[in-house]
Amino acid sequence: MSSYVRPVIEKLNAYRVTPPDYEIVVNANECPWDIPTVLKEEICQQIMAAPLNRYPDAGFRRLLTALSDYTGYPEDHHICGNGSDELVAMLYQTFVSPGEITVSHSPGFAMYGIWAEIAGATFMDVPDTEEGVPDCKAMIDLANTHQAKMIFICNPNNPTGYLFSREEIVDIIDNTQSLVVLDEAYMEFHGSSMGDLIDMYPERLIIMRTLSKAFGLASLRCGYCLGNPKLIDYLYKVKAPYNINSLTQIAAEIVLNNRDLLKERLVLLKDEKCKINDLLQCLPDVQTYPAASNFIYFKTPKAEAIYNTMEANNILIRYFPDDHAIRLTIGSPEENKKIAKILKEVCHDQSCNHPS
Ligand SMILES: Cc1ncc(COP(=O)(O)O)c(C=O)c1O
Repeated sequence: MSSYVRPVIEKLNAYRVTPPDYEIVVNANECPWDIPTVLKEEICQQIMAAPLNRYPDAGFRRLLTALSDYTGYPEDHHICGNGSDELVAMLYQTFVSPGEITVSHSPGFAMYGIWAEIAGATFMDVPDTEEGVPDCKAMIDLANTHQAKMIFICNPNNPTGYLFSREEIVDIIDNTQSLVVLDEAYMEFHGSSMGDLIDMYPERLIIMRTLSKAFGLASLRCGYCLGNPKLIDYLYKVKAPYNINSLTQIAAEIVLNNRDLLKERLVLLKDEKCKINDLLQCLPDVQTYPAASNFIYFKTPKAEAIYNTMEANNILIRYFPDDHAIRLTIGSPEENKKIAKILKEVCHDQSCNHPS
């Protein structure tokens, strides 16, 4: 052990994941397709004209204009991060002092807890009920008991796909004193946001979103927070000067401004999700959860066998051994056919006459 390193860092595992080398990668909730060629060409053209010897625009102004057009809120209501991963870190740096408490629900997105540890804060999560539903009342009680500084709500939730109702979100905000962060990374897959709640709670609510999922830009790392400038201005104080590189600014702006080209994909993915869901529902011993996202979470005693068989077939899925659960990202129709075939085989489903 180095005598220089902070004890909390000594305990952490480094995130050194080799890029997956599988034929089908459905473990990270990405979009199965690259962005349309026409957009890639436009990005290339703009990159050719961009002076790469110069620092990027530290205030990513053109990107803010595109975001503002997308969200319907003025530019000063947004800040961008190098992926929303970076935004979670910035939220901790800005609002949570060492020793303070943050609260969320579980299973949930791991980075809320990891950045808490790095910040010297304590992260507490409330397990979902037996039915796989977040226990909002228990979250409220926990936040109040510990005077939690911040509450993370992931909507739709990763990994379960659970969609909180507006009433549930409002109930949590109204009945606690914490700053609430509503992570809408997968919002576009079900189509409705609760972003307008920032007007009701200008000093209590921040929405977090990403271009990594529905917009298909995971490789370029661009997330954003939406909130009243009363809160967003503080995040600008901790932002690294040039956190969004020029290539990302160019691509994100182009993709946002041409978002209509991506609409059909969302419809197709929704259809595909229904097909996989129907299949899972008629497999024996499989417990599914309604998912408002581009992935499906299910539990089965065969989870390990499913994971191993997928891997043997060059398919990478996400396996949660402790919960005997699988999270399956919805792939392209061709990918989903292969996945469905394996699911049926592993579950030895003689009774199921599902066509897919
Ligand atoms: C709920 C949730 N929030 C945030 C992120 C981070 O997204 P990114 O850093 O790619 O913007 C993810 C990524 O999987 C996620 O699932």
